Amino acid sequence: MSTSYKDLGLVNTTEMFAKAVEGGYAVPAYNFNNMEQLQAIIQACVETKSPVILQVSAGARKYANANLLRNMAKGAVEFAKELGCEIPIALHLDHGDTFELCKDCIDSGFSSVMIDGSHFSFEENMALTKRVVEYAHAHGVTVEGELGVLAGVEDDVVAEKSHYTKPEEVIEFVTKTGVDSLAISIGTSHGANKFTPEQCTRNADGVLVPPPLRFDILEEIEVKLPGFPIVLHGSSSVPQEDVDTINKFGGALKDSVGIPEEQLRRAAKSAVCKINIDSDGRLAMTAAIRKVFVEKPGEFDPRKYLGPARDALTVLYKHKNNNVLGSAGKA
Ligand code: G3H
Ligand code: 13P
Ligand code: ZN
Repeated sequence: MSTSYKDLGLVNTTEMFAKAVEGGYAVPAYNFNNMEQLQAIIQACVETKSPVILQVSAGARKYANANLLRNMAKGAVEFAKELGCEIPIALHLDHGDTFELCKDCIDSGFSSVMIDGSHFSFEENMALTKRVVEYAHAHGVTVEGELGVLAGVEDDVVAEKSHYTKPEEVIEFVTKTGVDSLAISIGTSHGANKFTPEQCTRNADGVLVPPPLRFDILEEIEVKLPGFPIVLHGSSSVPQEDVDTINKFGGALKDSVGIPEEQLRRAAKSAVCKINIDSDGRLAMTAAIRKVFVEKPGEFDPRKYLGPARDALTVLYKHKNNNVLGSAGKA
């Protein structure tokens, strides 16, 4: 038996993206796998009155169980109402790699799916994306496609090198597939290890600055697709204080630099209307848990370390909505 996202109180991304493009901000797409992450996302987005995309990878869906996850999303809508603010909430499949997975998500209550055919040839990517769009649109579900390949790990898809999106391909891709939004590659990458210190320069304050995103490519795409929603993956900033806390309390993370917040702010003001953040949440959560484990070694009640992790996540997401994406107050 299939479930429509509408019965879960969710919305697709059409209206949230139209408002974001118009208003010059980006809607946060935060990945989650468990209850504490979901609680923090909802708490932060209600407190900042931000629309939100609850983002689930194939791996997360397997980890949490598809049934349980659907009901968690339903619960998230009710939780937001209970907190006193009805924010728009979408449930989105991140990096769907087959038609069957996208169909299964659509049939089980997702309001939006990504079909990531970026590792296929242009023609194969279009054919797969079009097939997903036809099924999704028949169910009122919105679809994100991708052109160009990000460096790093895209779920099961490993891309050693990034291939920037070719602006000359975007019009044909969008018109022939009918996608509702387009993820592009302009220099971001997935995971916590985006740039090594050697790839960066130091600014006047001694802060490591990575090579800038290719805003020239983004601008060319905007000219070709005026008002069309663009998506930025791999947009974690890798806060140094979280990396330091993790390493101080027994972790062994490599020195790494993420996407500077000013660059995300600039992207959010442009056609970029969805910004994907997963790794920063993982870092904040791990830092908080490691700290409790070292400072209170006698503690063994999971609430005593998952609670502080949830608090740290809430602070992080509020900061992003308020100071980076500009989505606060837009619900
Ligand atoms: O882009 C990938 C996301 O960060 C999800 O990662 O497949 O480990 O859940 P995951
Ligand atoms: P980060 O690894 O930079 O958080 O990117 C997440 C992402 O793009 C999920 O699709
Ligand atoms: Zn991604």
